[in-house]
Amino acid sequence: MGVYRIDVTAIFATCGEGAGDVAAVTGYAVPMSVHSSSKRLLAPDITAMKGQAPIVALTSYHAHTAAIADRYCDFLLVGDSLGMVMHGFETTVPVPLELMIMHGRAVVRGAKRALVVVDMPFGSYEESPSVAFRNAARVMKETDCGGIKIEGGRRMAETIRYLVERGIPVMSHIGLTPQSVNVIGGFKAQGRTEKEWAAIVEDARQVADAGAFAVVLEALTEPLARRITAAIKIPTIGIGASTACDGQILVMEDMLGLSPRVPRFVKKFGKVGEVIEDAIKSYARHHRDEGASPHRRADVVSRAYRGDRRPVLRLPSGRRQPRHG
Ligand code: KIV
Repeated sequence: MGVYRIDVTAIFATCGEGAGDVAAVTGYAVPMSVHSSSKRLLAPDITAMKGQAPIVALTSYHAHTAAIADRYCDFLLVGDSLGMVMHGFETTVPVPLELMIMHGRAVVRGAKRALVVVDMPFGSYEESPSVAFRNAARVMKETDCGGIKIEGGRRMAETIRYLVERGIPVMSHIGLTPQSVNVIGGFKAQGRTEKEWAAIVEDARQVADAGAFAVVLEALTEPLARRITAAIKIPTIGIGASTACDGQILVMEDMLGLSPRVPRFVKKFGKVGEVIEDAIKSYARHHRDEGASPHRRADVVSRAYRGDRRPVLRLPSGRRQPRHG
């Protein structure tokens, strides 16, 4: 039996028009930014989107936010930025492979449709193509993700070719490469003068020729991002690199308004930090100042204390399990 999938992207490509045409072809009104298909996207699906539809991506580090972002994004990146965003490191350099695997698993469990790409952390791939393969294969096996990302242009081309030839889809990352922050001397925009452009365009050419399925361009000027996007056949995914790219990615916590410090280019689409603070303030006030119960149904908990063994939490699958804590 075949698996049926309404591929909105393909319908757009056929019609060359907007949502009205989608509705005309499918008979369904498809909201513009919500995905309706359920089959998991693969790396070649992302490559095929170049020139067809803008690629939407976010970072994600946990199952619940992955489940939400999955409805709107083409791919989710388990970025090593999680070291700074979630674990309080100053840079991404200290992030261990095990942490990437743990968060990668959570995101794969949460996302059903989007391609999940896991970042290879500093020190896990630079030494040689075979070291990179051993660690990348471990990430793929232990997380079930659909691809990995490595930083570096032409210096990583041989490794990219080696990995792709052995079954590992690779996303490249050029421009500002945060794992090199100690060499660059800070999180600085790249290609600021025109004489630096040729080298960065060459980086993009070489990673594309080596078989990368897409390339992240971080902190590059608009004309340079435009030049690279026109020069290569794989999609460019911009972060602080203008709308000239084929797709965009942001760190989810930055665009949600949750991160205390964000790069200057980040546009905030929410005030989640404020929402969390309001909720915690009201919980504390409720409990400390008003002496009220923090439970919606205090009777459920007191019932349990009376020896009633009925569960206080029903799992979505219908299985019954007592709530811990
Ligand atoms: O680690 C990360 O989140 C990234 C994105 C900034 C592209 O590499």
